[in-house]
Amino acid sequence: MSVSETDFLETAEEAARLGGRILDEWSSKFTVSEKGRSDYVTEADLASQEAIYNLIHGRFPEHNFLGEEGLSETNSDSPYRWVIDPLDGTSNYVHRFPFYAVSIGLECDGELIAGVVFDPNRDEMFSALRGNGATLNGQPIQPTSVDSLDQAMAVASLPVVADRDHPAIERFLRALAVAQTVQRTGSAALNLVYVAAGRMDIYFSTTLKPWDMAGGAAIIQEAGGRVTKTDGSDLDIGEPDILASNGAAIHEQLQQLFA
Ligand code: IPD
Ligand code: CA
Ligand code: CA
Repeated sequence: MSVSETDFLETAEEAARLGGRILDEWSSKFTVSEKGRSDYVTEADLASQEAIYNLIHGRFPEHNFLGEEGLSETNSDSPYRWVIDPLDGTSNYVHRFPFYAVSIGLECDGELIAGVVFDPNRDEMFSALRGNGATLNGQPIQPTSVDSLDQAMAVASLPVVADRDHPAIERFLRALAVAQTVQRTGSAALNLVYVAAGRMDIYFSTTLKPWDMAGGAAIIQEAGGRVTKTDGSDLDIGEPDILASNGAAIHEQLQQLFA
């Protein structure tokens, strides 16, 4: 039986749900370690990644993998690479603020072809497969049509800790002066899918890692939104820069504000 891209998406959804169950299981007993100042990791991050990896690798052993918690496998000629954040929003998880997710993206020859972001607190599965649109719990999703920043709910990811003169803070203040509001939630993956689902209008960050954005970026693209770097050039998940929107004029407006 030949493997199809639908098999990849079903596997991604199954793996994300499994990761979500593990986050639930650990939520009453985890301990916290610091990778850097205020950069937390718990047993839940590690156990979720291990389970997700084992499930996907068990089905597609020839594929490549990149995961936040020290997972990097690039030992085959396969064009496929899974990019995994087993818990996006660890600070929220640690503080019991219920806004975090499992994020999984799949690249083929460096192009994002599928993504899932699973929110275990709301049992919401955002998912997308190239050419098939994006869904939330199986129902099609689409971004808003807000086309003016002064009516837009923007959302940003800043570094966990930043000095007041950090360039990301300066960009945040610029956006705050013109947008209807600028939120900061603690989960880049959920920010991205909230834009895809029309719950927010535009998202930006200049300090992300590939696993923060791979799943959500694939979903925005398929939902009909737009995702670029903050200067409007093509997204590269290997670089920390992302501007993701409903695709309306607010995309260029924010781009110009940051220029
Ligand atoms: C973090 C979240 C947060 C963003 C940070 C990320 P993590 O991911 O996505 O929103 O501001 O830059 O590191 O560490 O919780 O997986
Ligand atoms: Ca993350
Ligand atoms: Ca993480």
